[in-house]
Amino acid sequence: MNVIIVKNAEEGSKRAAEWIAEQIRMNPQIVLGMATGGTFIETYRHLVEAYNEGSVSFRHVTTFNLDEYVGLPPSHPNSYRYYMDQHLFWHVDIDLTNTFVPNGMAVDLEEECRRYDWLIEQAGGIDVQLLGVGRNGHIGFNEPGTSFSARTHVVRLAESTRKANARFFKREEEVPTHAITVGIRTIMESKRILLLAFGKEKAAALRAGFCGEVTENVPVSILQKHHDVTIIADEEAWSEV
Ligand code: GLP
Repeated sequence: MNVIIVKNAEEGSKRAAEWIAEQIRMNPQIVLGMATGGTFIETYRHLVEAYNEGSVSFRHVTTFNLDEYVGLPPSHPNSYRYYMDQHLFWHVDIDLTNTFVPNGMAVDLEEECRRYDWLIEQAGGIDVQLLGVGRNGHIGFNEPGTSFSARTHVVRLAESTRKANARFFKREEEVPTHAITVGIRTIMESKRILLLAFGKEKAAALRAGFCGEVTENVPVSILQKHHDVTIIADEEAWSEV
């Protein structure tokens, strides 16, 4: 595991964007697994800057997002499709038909999960998976207790996760109760992983994930078993490891 400790989120987001841009330059046809959440907003902003400076192109990049809320259409400002469009895709030269986000509006959600796994398989799997971490140790929307062998599936969100994400919504009741998430198994099959964690509210999740045993109760702990993980964390997030 390659751990990069930075002073704060600002420095971490810059380092992350440089790291991701380098992966794209090394493999312009890269298949990227994308994450959302507050953590990645600045990283994507720096990637847009790098694109504007001409130091990276997304022309041949394919992306698969980790998760999406059930019941939010792509045009909803809190959907993860909208997040990606707004923070990255609309500002770079990516071919939007090569950007995939689970469809949280699908009539048959189980079928949508199977379709998403099939699409990832057709693309040859994920080359580089970007990950944030929830305060309770979740990755994607794989909440504590999720089987490590799960592929894409529908989850009921933990109340603590709904509370944590309520800051992006007008009212807490508006936070969807369910989501579609890529499973831990698919995440573990990706060739490389980049995990970002900033701020003291992530410290407990990192301590449980990297100082303790590998357990389904702390989804992020599975990364101890992956052969190519880079972590960029700020001093606060890493303070208890
Ligand atoms: C969200 C997302 C995760 C994200 C995590 C942390 O619920 N589903 O993919 O990594 O929780 O979010 P944030 O970066 O806002 O702390």
